[in-house]
Amino acid sequence: MDDGEPDGYDEDYQPQMLEIVPCVAADVESLIVAGRKEGLAFSPSTELFMARLNGVIVGLCGIVHYRGHSKLKNFYVLPAHRRQGYFRQMLDFLLIKAREAQSKYVEATATALSLPEFLNRGATVKRTYKAGYTAVRLNL
Ligand SMILES: CC(C)(COP(=O)(O)OP(=O)(O)OC[C@H]1O[C@@H](n2cnc3c(N)ncnc32)[C@H](O)[C@@H]1OP(=O)(O)O)[C@@H](O)C(=O)NCCC(=O)NCCS
Repeated sequence: MDDGEPDGYDEDYQPQMLEIVPCVAADVESLIVAGRKEGLAFSPSTELFMARLNGVIVGLCGIVHYRGHSKLKNFYVLPAHRRQGYFRQMLDFLLIKAREAQSKYVEATATALSLPEFLNRGATVKRTYKAGYTAVRLNL
């Protein structure tokens, strides 16, 4: 039917909203195992959150608060669910948590896959590492 819209355009399209909730490592063990294979380091002191889509776990992220700033950790989206904006949603979520903790800025160790989004948001590069990681800082 010709509805006057370009092919593939759906004015009712909404990005799928994740449910992001606190979790413990045991809840996301398989993602931690997969994340380690992609270079992520997990520490028990990190406050972890899992991201669910219609009840299915698709991602993971974590945060550690210090006096005046927070560190964002362990962003991981399962490969089958990538490039659909879920990292972006988790980042928004953790930035709210950092602000709630009175942080003035956040730091993260970005990978090649996450660096573009940090830079898009105005993060500055603090240091680059040989292994392809980049330490970034984003003012809140
Ligand atoms: C990095 C990671 C979390 C991104 O998750 P994602 O849900 O696919 O990311 P999003 O869909 O929200 O993408 C947001 C933006 O990040 C950038 N990005 C994400 N994946 C990218 C890729 N493969 N290549 C280049 N840029 C990419 C893009 O700017 C993208 O925006 P766009 O799709 O509008 O161009 C995911 O690839 C992952 O888990 N990788 C392995 C672990 C890792 O690198 N963690 C990051 C630690 S800081």
